[in-house]
Amino acid sequence: MQALQGVKILDFTHVQSGPTCTQLLAWFGADVIKVERPGVGDATRKQLVDVPGADSLYFTMLNHNKRSITLNTKNETGKEVLERLVKECDVLVENFAPGALDRMGFSWERIQELNPRMIMASVKGFGPGPYEDCKVYENVAQCAGGSASTTGFLDGPPLVTGAQIGDSGTGLHLALGIVTALFQREKSGKGQKVLAAMQDGVLNLSRVKLRDQQRLAAGPLTEYSQYGEGTPFGDATPRAGNDSGGGQPGRILKCKGWETDPNAYTYFITQAAVWKKICDVIGEPDWKEKEGYATPPERLDKLNEIFERIEQWTMTKTKFEVMDICNPLDIPVGPILSMKEIAEEPSLRKTGTIVEVDHPERGPYLTVGCPIKLSDSPVEVVRSPLLGEHTDEILTSVLGYEGDELDRVRGSGAVGEVKAEAAE
Ligand code: COA
Repeated sequence: MQALQGVKILDFTHVQSGPTCTQLLAWFGADVIKVERPGVGDATRKQLVDVPGADSLYFTMLNHNKRSITLNTKNETGKEVLERLVKECDVLVENFAPGALDRMGFSWERIQELNPRMIMASVKGFGPGPYEDCKVYENVAQCAGGSASTTGFLDGPPLVTGAQIGDSGTGLHLALGIVTALFQREKSGKGQKVLAAMQDGVLNLSRVKLRDQQRLAAGPLTEYSQYGEGTPFGDATPRAGNDSGGGQPGRILKCKGWETDPNAYTYFITQAAVWKKICDVIGEPDWKEKEGYATPPERLDKLNEIFERIEQWTMTKTKFEVMDICNPLDIPVGPILSMKEIAEEPSLRKTGTIVEVDHPERGPYLTVGCPIKLSDSPVEVVRSPLLGEHTDEILTSVLGYEGDELDRVRGSGAVGEVKAEAAE
């Protein structure tokens, strides 16, 4: 038994944001039916291809545990099949460009007519306003949501982050909106529209930077390194390098081997409560009581000197030795882990956070499993579907097509040639 067992999702998503959301719902037990264009499919199937002829990792890693039906929704028979899917499913999830669903003839009004219990969930780049009609990709959202302007170093340009907070981050927001709407439907009996705009999702994740924007009115942000360095603040939240987003100063520091290993670094936080232990560990016991060093406010203008001293110590240890020494003392540190190290980490394999999956076209590959663990809803990661792999199965067992009617749909050109497409 899984948490969302019995919930049917009409998955009209593509690329990353929407597929992240429906993959999570599938992992929680929903039956996710991915609708793709015959012969084409989700564009990511053929993007960043590493094994010629096989679905890319981009696609496979975002579409586990789903079924795929190919359907041309602009063809009359295709529209008929889609109508039946709308009537049959609980949730429609889409992340088309603004207006695409209306142009297809499936406006929110029409969907409600067909199925008043339907929850229609969308990712869009922007909410209502001047940019609502724009097509949006990950980095546009990172820039428009306040992340890029607050990421990077003070003397450098804005930076985007490798974590896909615009796409995958918004997919997560949408998934929460969907399960919340499902919960409300239990009482109201009605569906509703759920919208997660990528700009809003990124801004939500950048919340502490809007906090700092308002704090600026009360004076300089004393926990930012630039305060201690005497650099004046402007009128907007500045880029803070690797400063921590909270009230405790932190930095990324070199560890043993940094000259040749680009990830031989640790994050080190000078948590006030353990200052004395830090002084002992780095060999500066005098700093425990010394004027100018003993309390957090006194240290603010000396953070560069203090972190340089700590770094002299971290450079004598590997990032893992730093962890082993500091953790028992409650000094917060974290090794900078490379993707290679993460991929090889046995504990992540054990928890199902990193999973090896077999695929008929590409063989075994690694993926990130469900990052949210429910004690009573186990997850088995199942490979992504080939294009149209489940078309027949969905037409017959989900939509009840049979006999002449099934032949008519098969012969209409609305659904693709299943095997031929899968092998393309
Ligand atoms: N059968 C027939 N037509 C189909 C179809 C199907 N099964 N599936 C999609 N289409 C059509 C759509 O109806 C649309 O046609 P239209 O432009 O004539 O209305 C067309 O395919 C293209 O869809 P679109 O969403 O515009 O794709 P795109 O590749 O041009 O744009 C995005 C991609 C991601 C920029 C855009 O979808 C978008 O802005 N989405 C919202 C924000 C978002 O999720 N961005 C991040 C993606 S990770």
